[in-house]
Amino acid sequence: MPQNNRIVLASRPQGDVKPENFRRDSVASAAPGDGQVLVRVIYLSLDPYMRPRMTEMNSYTPPFELNQPLTGGAVAEVIESKSDRFRAGDIVMGMFGWEQYSIADARLLRKIDAKAAPLIANLGVLGMPGYTAYHGMLRIGQPKPGETVFVSAATGAVGAVAGQLAKIKGARVVGCAGSDAKCEFAVKELGYDACFNHTKERDYDAVLKKLCPKGIDVNFENVGGPIFHAVFKAMNNFGRMAMCGAISEYQDTTPRPGPDKMFTIIQRRLEIKGFIVSDHMQSMGEFVRDVGGWIKEGKIRYRETVVEGLDNAPKAFMGLLKGENFGKLVVKIGDEPKL
Ligand SMILES: NC(=O)c1ccc[n+]([C@@H]2O[C@H](COP(=O)([O-])OP(=O)(O)OC[C@H]3O[C@@H](n4cnc5c(N)ncnc54)[C@H](OP(=O)(O)O)[C@@H]3O)[C@@H](O)[C@H]2O)c1
Repeated sequence: MPQNNRIVLASRPQGDVKPENFRRDSVASAAPGDGQVLVRVIYLSLDPYMRPRMTEMNSYTPPFELNQPLTGGAVAEVIESKSDRFRAGDIVMGMFGWEQYSIADARLLRKIDAKAAPLIANLGVLGMPGYTAYHGMLRIGQPKPGETVFVSAATGAVGAVAGQLAKIKGARVVGCAGSDAKCEFAVKELGYDACFNHTKERDYDAVLKKLCPKGIDVNFENVGGPIFHAVFKAMNNFGRMAMCGAISEYQDTTPRPGPDKMFTIIQRRLEIKGFIVSDHMQSMGEFVRDVGGWIKEGKIRYRETVVEGLDNAPKAFMGLLKGENFGKLVVKIGDEPKL
């Protein structure tokens, strides 16, 4: 069995994640049992939800186990199969460890057509983040032509798709992002009508008034914190909020106060709905058909940050929590097979 390099959770972070919360080790990879496969991980997705899973927080997914590899969505190649569902050489998607080789229950894996789309797209625009945007924007936000839509983390894996979907539906779309380069990308490449750099323009009430003079009808929330509070105040009557994420709060050690004027929800008849994409997987086929088609038509564009090597995963993940990624963040752990 091959030697398996892994990144395990060494300790639970208090506040910001630090290098000492991770440890690299190396063990002999196990052999697959009946119904299992041994895979070689090619691309590992790094996602914000991993930060709450590093704590003991009682959430919709259980905490990562101490001294075990962290896990994440990944694309991998089957090396050995003890299941009649897969054979060696198949390319699959599933939840695997932050490691070079993983054992998995074959029933939890999905075979992917490696020729249909670039492998990384299955972790981003055509995978979980893209589908999160699709569900949140189209099912909850339901933007109409002429309405104003706001998207925070506008160029991220989820935000970039969410903003472009709102444009496809005929809305005016405004976003915020963490650098001038990201804002330029949002406007020039993704088609946002406007985008502000939230690290420079700190008077969020004033900038939203300027960029959203008619108020906001749909908010796609990725960040939380002070930007969310300002957006909340700018919401129009009958506005909708798709509450997707609150990344600015994931490293907090004490709870933050919420928006102070909760009566606003009633006065403005707001619909505020939190969602977790894994509860809504039934429309995945429709999503792949629609978004795949819009990518071919050039209506949806995307960008990825690919970090080379498993050993760089912890640093890349810490960077994600500070906005250092530009588009979907993926770690390349192994080479793509030659097709
Ligand atoms: N509900 C669901 O089912 C679901 C599924 C997937 C993702 N999500 C959520 O969606 C959000 C976006 O996820 P993603 O995968 O698309 O990640 P991403 O946007 O590709 O990367 C995270 C981005 O968040 C921004 N950010 C990080 N720390 C921040 C801070 N302290 N304050 C403000 N902005 C900060 C940065 O963008 P800037 O540089 O532009 O600030 C960073 O690049 C996250 O909140 C995530 O938890 C929810």
